[in-house]
Amino acid sequence: MVEKDLRGRRALITGASSGIGRKTAEEFAARGADVAVASRREDVLKELAETLENEADIEALAVEMDVTDETQVARGVSSIVDAFGGLDIVVNNAGIGCGGPITQVSTEEYRSVMSVNVDGMFFVTRETMPHLLDSEGALLFVGSTSGRYPRPDYPIYAASKWWTRGFALSIAGQAGEDGVAVTLINPGTTRTDFGSSFRASNTEKYDAGEALDPKDVAETIAFAAKQEAPTTISELAVTMRDSLSNT
Ligand SMILES: NC(=O)c1ccc[n+]([C@@H]2O[C@H](COP(=O)([O-])OP(=O)(O)OC[C@H]3O[C@@H](n4cnc5c(N)ncnc54)[C@H](OP(=O)(O)O)[C@@H]3O)[C@@H](O)[C@H]2O)c1
Repeated sequence: MVEKDLRGRRALITGASSGIGRKTAEEFAARGADVAVASRREDVLKELAETLENEADIEALAVEMDVTDETQVARGVSSIVDAFGGLDIVVNNAGIGCGGPITQVSTEEYRSVMSVNVDGMFFVTRETMPHLLDSEGALLFVGSTSGRYPRPDYPIYAASKWWTRGFALSIAGQAGEDGVAVTLINPGTTRTDFGSSFRASNTEKYDAGEALDPKDVAETIAFAAKQEAPTTISELAVTMRDSLSNT
């Protein structure tokens, strides 16, 4: 039985239709939080929201929100605040990748990664910050170990995650003194659909036990989200134990 340590908290999770975001929504709901699950695939989100409400005594809201579109982000956040009466936790999770030799990266691939991983995190942070300031809530960013080390196979993706780290830690400096808890979570390779747009997905590439399970990351996010004022966890890495053996 999971402890209901997020009971009554109102959370938004971006990129919640799949992988780490989906497991985080499940973890938050099990711990008693009301959850707004957001991404582009509304049908998947509706099914997820229904399952979460059936399995836990919480409210769940499916919100179609392309994070690259500031109008959709504004509309989505406003609908969540109307429904929940405010926001206590925001997980900036939606993200995509691209890879390969730099000579073969198309402008379109480059722009897609930057618009989801960089613009998206900016739009969601700007739009939700007034509500987090009201509630003295928690803002969590899903970065990556790729945001801490050079990644010869994924330079654009890695650079976008270095941006996430710089942004998250700077926002912590700005909003921390107003009582907002900011956390950067850096997962290592995780078995999700990640990568399927440019190579085999991580679930196809790695067997269970060869990479993190998204639930491991979700539990880490929940651990950071439940911290009470005046404490926050500023940055956490969650990795396989041998992750530093081959860097
Ligand atoms: N898997 C890993 O190895 C790993 C390691 C470190 C960090 N991360 C990070 O973890 C985060 C989640 O990735 P994941 O591994 O869970 O991948 P995933 O299973 O592919 O999930 C990605 C999520 O992002 C959403 N998304 C993509 N474009 C979007 C857009 N324009 N607007 C809104 N949502 C969008 C997708 O939903 P829709 O398609 O429904 O929009 C999906 O829910 C990303 O930030 C990723 O960089 C992953």
